[in-house]
Amino acid sequence: MPSKRKGIVLAGGYGTRLYPLTVAINKQLLPVYDKPMIYYPISVLMLAGIREILIIALPGDIPKYKNLLGDGSQYGINISYAEQKYPNGLAEALIIGEDFIAGDSVALVLGDNIFYGNDLQNILKSTNQKQEGATVFGYYVEKPQRFGVVEFDEKGKVLSITEKPKNPKSNYAIIGLYFYDNKAVEYAKSLNFSNRGELEITDLNKKYLDKGELDVKLLGRGFSWFDTGTIDALSDASEFIRIIQKRQSMIISALEEIGYNNNWITKEELLKAAKKYIKTPYGKYLEKVAHGDIINSQF
Ligand code: G1P
Repeated sequence: MPSKRKGIVLAGGYGTRLYPLTVAINKQLLPVYDKPMIYYPISVLMLAGIREILIIALPGDIPKYKNLLGDGSQYGINISYAEQKYPNGLAEALIIGEDFIAGDSVALVLGDNIFYGNDLQNILKSTNQKQEGATVFGYYVEKPQRFGVVEFDEKGKVLSITEKPKNPKSNYAIIGLYFYDNKAVEYAKSLNFSNRGELEITDLNKKYLDKGELDVKLLGRGFSWFDTGTIDALSDASEFIRIIQKRQSMIISALEEIGYNNNWITKEELLKAAKKYIKTPYGKYLEKVAHGDIINSQF
């Protein structure tokens, strides 16, 4: 029987590039338009069909995440929590999550990444089917120097991946969503700290590349991806979500809606959430979903 994939959201870090916004509030709790940032990466795991989710955060922030998300049952998922004591790098999430992963495959998503696109759910579901090796996603960006960058040959074969290269070999950034088989924990444990003092996710991906087990799926120009780690990117993401939601009268990353469409919560549970938030467009939207007034809304 294929193993069930687990999901990890890494919501650590001090968010120093967003100071003073993040002096007292963890970055992934900041609003991106009408909901906390962490809703967006959680929605990605849920759209992939993943129900067992571990949130990793700095020790002082865990009570705040628990306050916001609880055990996840209101969305039809199971959320647990673990501490990352220092921002030691993204790959450390796999080591911290070892007991939670418990030999299954895993998807890691960064708490400050936002994904939006017409075919997103199908892409996620099909990626989730693959049990062996790793799958990461490439996205064309203006400033690849800020990211992990993938190099291809003329046939599209992946030649290299490099973290924040000064002279990028392409404009394709590797975005913050990674699907791994159960070897990821062992590979993560074998990594050394990089020059910037982190266990790099790019080094973990290189292990898969060296073994010929890394798939890079390119997301086309119709797709939107934001890393909200800087003030401008955060503001752009909020504006983007506001515009799309207003245009379509649909809410992006409404977790209760996704849980309901996945048949993980009942109509009664959805209405309970709608009532809790009824003074807001979010609550009114959930009510519409429960009454069947939103058609084909699961993206
Ligand atoms: C991290 C990764 C990088 C990836 C990026 C996506 O960068 O190291 O490979 O492209 O997330 O958001 P960081 O947030 O550490 O600058």
